[in-house]
Amino acid sequence: MKNFINIRDIPKKDLKKIILDAKKRKIKRKKLSILDTDKGSSLKGKILIQMFEKSSLRTRLSFYIAIKQLNGEAITLRTDELHLSKGGESLEDTAKIISTFGNAFMIRTDSDEKLEEFKKHMTIPIINGLSPSSHPTQVLSDVFTIEEIKKKSISKLQICWIGDANNNVINSLIEASIKFSFKLNIGCPKKYKPNKKMLSWVKKNKGNVKIFNDSKSAAKGSDVIFTDKVISMNDKVNKLKKLKDFKNFKVDFKVMNYAKKNAIFLHCLPRGTEVSNDVFLSKRSKVWQQAFNRIFVQKSILLYCLGKLR
Ligand code: CP
Ligand code: NVA
Repeated sequence: MKNFINIRDIPKKDLKKIILDAKKRKIKRKKLSILDTDKGSSLKGKILIQMFEKSSLRTRLSFYIAIKQLNGEAITLRTDELHLSKGGESLEDTAKIISTFGNAFMIRTDSDEKLEEFKKHMTIPIINGLSPSSHPTQVLSDVFTIEEIKKKSISKLQICWIGDANNNVINSLIEASIKFSFKLNIGCPKKYKPNKKMLSWVKKNKGNVKIFNDSKSAAKGSDVIFTDKVISMNDKVNKLKKLKDFKNFKVDFKVMNYAKKNAIFLHCLPRGTEVSNDVFLSKRSKVWQQAFNRIFVQKSILLYCLGKLR
């Protein structure tokens, strides 16, 4: 049994194995419908319990479909309907009950500490479906999407992130840049650079992460331009002020044109005002493929956690 909480904690070879498995699974499903099961799927009789403390569309759907394609089942808990959220039951007892009924637990939470607490009391694998500091399933799937579109190892590409550089998605992307050895340029206002802990981890691991305080320099020569909402779900900030701080960090065609001619645009979604509508809806934007690919990678993550990855 393995957990999937932060990319930084997962061995490089395991991450690569997950991506490879997802690639093979996607190819084999070409003629199948969404709820057809993968051939030789091995999670029959297994149940994934998912719990959301915050909104979700893609993560919820992709995990549900992923476990169904592996012949298992999913149940989704709404935290506002649990005793836990009303103070009527402890986290420890909730974790033990989830472990008794389920085979894997996916949680989207507003607290990294809560994730750690759940981990302490669970006897089944726990998957981080987004926390304030990390969004590992999203980013692993994004590595998959980039390699699928570019048809080469991500280690040969330059990835550029424009936007808030101290949120969950960029944290996981920075961690991925070390594990998959790719160049990462970050374009962000000075105040929103990656946090100190992350920067010292990058330094310790000899990462190739460069920080720019203007978006065009960051985009220059890149193969992929990535962004995310300026205001994340967890942000307890003055929203108007933060949006103003990012007024020069919108991804539009002026920025895209600094990247390579065939550079693609990615966004984990949902979107805000950080990308222009024309870029978002252009041919260079691969956001729908990016979202759909989460099913394939989620399947391989589930198999990995349950010790069934071939
Ligand atoms: N990208 C992503 O995690 O989407 P949801 O918040 O809709 O799950
Ligand atoms: N950074 C965003 C990601 C949403 C999937 C958030 O936390 O709201």
